[in-house]
Amino acid sequence: MEIRGREIREIITPQEISSKVSELAEKIENELRSDSIVVIGLLKGAFVFTADLIRAMKKPVKVDFMWVSSYGSEMEPSQKLRFLKDIELNVEGEEVLLVDDILDTGLTIERVYEHLLKKNPRTLKTCVLIEKEGRRRTDFRADFVGFVVPNYFLVGYGLDWAEEGRNLPGIYAVEER
Ligand code: PRP
Repeated sequence: MEIRGREIREIITPQEISSKVSELAEKIENELRSDSIVVIGLLKGAFVFTADLIRAMKKPVKVDFMWVSSYGSEMEPSQKLRFLKDIELNVEGEEVLLVDDILDTGLTIERVYEHLLKKNPRTLKTCVLIEKEGRRRTDFRADFVGFVVPNYFLVGYGLDWAEEGRNLPGIYAVEER
């Protein structure tokens, strides 16, 4: 299969994602003890993962989204973050789970974590579906991690390459030329 004229190779199948999502949901619910959880997804990349994760959870959840975007070149992350949309829910005193699709340099999730902490949640945990190896520019660790993956450029399941590929059901590595 190709995207933008480059070959892509499936590295995580839809079935593997689905069982990982169930496993993560169970771990999260065992650790977050209150009756209801506020789940905050990071747009755009985490919209697919967030939608599946909340449906794998049995407790009542409230859902909100923040929209942040890093800018730089197409395939390289940048330290510059644009905050495009804040959450609408009041999370003061709530058990909050911040959800993102991928932790690459870690700069996005760290900045958003600090932003949400100022809203005084009772607890604030983080969950990422994918952690990329070898690219960290911060000591930030996510509390719940689905897959640890080498430094490939990834598309699918919410992840894009210049806005294409978010609808692919699995996760694919874009092959080097
Ligand atoms: C991607 C991804 C993460 C972030 C991870 O978002 O969804 O939020 O980069 O990178 P980092 O760990 O190096 O900060 P992007 O800004 O590309 O926007 P998108 O979610 O709309 O795809």
